[in-house]
Amino acid sequence: MSPFPTTGSAAAEPDTAERIRDVNTRYHDGAAAQYDAKWGIDWGEVGADQVRQKLEKLLGTPLPHFDAALEIGAGTGYFSLHMLKAGIVGAATATDISPGMIDALRGNAERLGLQVETAVADAERLPFDDASFDLVLGHAVLHHIPDLEQAFREFHRVLRPGGVILFAGEPSRTGDKIAIVPKKAADYAAPLWRRVIRARPAQHGHDDGGAENHALESQVDVHAFVPTELRAPIAAAGFETVDVQGEELAANWFGWFNRGMESSARDEDVPWGWKMYAFKGYLFFQKLDRRLLEGRLPASIFYNLMVTARKAG
Ligand SMILES: C[S@@+](CC[C@H](N)C(=O)[O-])C[C@H]1O[C@@H](n2cnc3c(N)ncnc32)[C@H](O)[C@@H]1O
Repeated sequence: MSPFPTTGSAAAEPDTAERIRDVNTRYHDGAAAQYDAKWGIDWGEVGADQVRQKLEKLLGTPLPHFDAALEIGAGTGYFSLHMLKAGIVGAATATDISPGMIDALRGNAERLGLQVETAVADAERLPFDDASFDLVLGHAVLHHIPDLEQAFREFHRVLRPGGVILFAGEPSRTGDKIAIVPKKAADYAAPLWRRVIRARPAQHGHDDGGAENHALESQVDVHAFVPTELRAPIAAAGFETVDVQGEELAANWFGWFNRGMESSARDEDVPWGWKMYAFKGYLFFQKLDRRLLEGRLPASIFYNLMVTARKAG
């Protein structure tokens, strides 16, 4: 579901694993049509900058060029399409367990005039030959995958020797706990805030595929990580030089507080001025995090974790 996930940590039992994959498919199918609007996914310069900055944090500057990239859990294409557009990857293959997300991604690619290969695929069973790609990447997807070690073995198999994996937007367990504070504060402040902006209360599930889909939302996330737990399945799958970093702290406090209040109101009642303040404010705090906090504080206290590693060769 969200790039801002929540719970769990232990590997799921086999029957639960099947159920988790099923719930993820159904939830994301239902959420696909409204996904970009719900999460403010930007297809212009702002989105392009955000993707580039995340890549630079992990890979340094200037960014390397990748001939063939494979994205896991690509959703509506946020990472792959921006990377294609910027020329960072030559050819992109985007996969997702949800056919609805893949349809939405194809629509976005068409609107942007970009060529992308797509496949509906579970991260743990990739329909590609060995050594097919030089980059395997994902954003906000690892926390949905029941058997991470099996998934990383697959990523290792489809990578060429010397190939790189790169994952960002994964929830850290401590960051997740800390985020309870702004979420609770938003719950308390929401009724007053709605009165001030004269907004009606939200209808549950309105913006993510209906009430039934809303009920699935709490079941799609299976991990929140501490850095060592994220490292372990990657190293076990045979990768070298695993590097885990943390990103976004103040930005998430700000984002969760505003998002919590916003989601309590009907979208059409939230003034444009408020939406701009929330969006611009989030970008401001992201910059602040980048300049002052990231790289200075331990990775585990940030809200999101990002990781890169290399296949030997
Ligand atoms: C939070 S969304 C992120 C989408 C996109 N990467 C982004 O950042 O906007 C998580 C995505 O992972 C997909 N997903 C969930 N479980 C998966 C699995 N086992 N294999 C592949 N994709 C999966 C979902 O369908 C969904 O599109």
